[in-house]
Amino acid sequence: ALISMRQLLDHAAEFGYGVPAFNVNNLEQMRAIMEAADETDSPVIVQASAGARKYAGAPFLRHLILAAIEEFPHIPVVMHQDHGTSPAVCQRSIQLGFSSVMMDGSLKDDGKTPASYEYNVDVTRRTVEMAHACGVSVEGELGCLGSLETGEAGEEDGIGAEGKLTMDQMLTDPEEAADFVKKTNVDALAIAIGTSHGAYKFTRPPTGDVLAISRIKEIHERIPNTHLVMHGSSSVPQEWLKVINEFGGEIPETYGVPVEEICEGIKHGVRKVNIDTDLRLAATGAIRRSLSESPANFDPRKYLAVSVSAMKEICLARYEAFGTAGNA
Ligand code: G3H
Ligand code: 13P
Ligand code: NA
Ligand code: ZN
Repeated sequence: ALISMRQLLDHAAEFGYGVPAFNVNNLEQMRAIMEAADETDSPVIVQASAGARKYAGAPFLRHLILAAIEEFPHIPVVMHQDHGTSPAVCQRSIQLGFSSVMMDGSLKDDGKTPASYEYNVDVTRRTVEMAHACGVSVEGELGCLGSLETGEAGEEDGIGAEGKLTMDQMLTDPEEAADFVKKTNVDALAIAIGTSHGAYKFTRPPTGDVLAISRIKEIHERIPNTHLVMHGSSSVPQEWLKVINEFGGEIPETYGVPVEEICEGIKHGVRKVNIDTDLRLAATGAIRRSLSESPANFDPRKYLAVSVSAMKEICLARYEAFGTAGNA
């Protein structure tokens, strides 16, 4: 059944678990997410980015999620719009039937330029008024995703600030977070703690100076009733980097957010954990290996099926690790 983000995250807070929010673009990702949720009895958040809408088209994406709900009627599903760049974009998704939207007012409507605090409050508050009138939840974002190692936003997939960011911009301030939640009435708040989108988050396994889990604790102490969201939370599995590179890929050394660190965040108010890159890496590794090992195969279903299994394995592991399993 389709449920709102608020319903799911309230339950997650009450029972102390986190929910992975997987980006979805195609049938294979959707199947991997739902089969893993079905096997572990987990509630689901699937999110559609602007890039996904461009790739699949909004109607296909919408019906893909509706098809998942039809095939797995016993699993609660949140249909979430990821990184909306304006209230108008969010309004369109509400009209399409999304049960949750993200108004990312940390950036201007070009999706690149860091916005002022006042701008962020204004667009987020307006989106919340509109969405709540329709029973739809809203995620806001305060602070800009970016690497505390390099000061870069790490926006290789086109979602994120352009150019250099200051330390202040890349770490959400707890006092400002309290003021923001009070003024906007958001259902969930994405915070900046040193993660960034894509595969290139850290040049070495991250330590507390570049991945500020301590900041989550400070924010949670200040606003204990607000559901926190971690973006850029792929773990960048070293096993999959190895498979990709063994079968003709070229991905340089890089590290993601360790699952244990995410679990530490979940102990301190993180309820939604955004993951896209890990499924991309698993799919690419599995397809490269399959094509290389079965050079005579030309049936896409064969290599796409192995991509489903690879992505499903990641989904299963996250549902278990985050405590989502058993809560559907
Ligand atoms: O928000 C970031 C996600 O990884 C979506 O990326 O815009 O390439 O679909 P995308
Ligand atoms: P990753 O690139 O780490 O998977 O993050 C995805 C994300 O935050 C989508 O909003
Ligand atoms: Na989001
Ligand atoms: Zn994101």
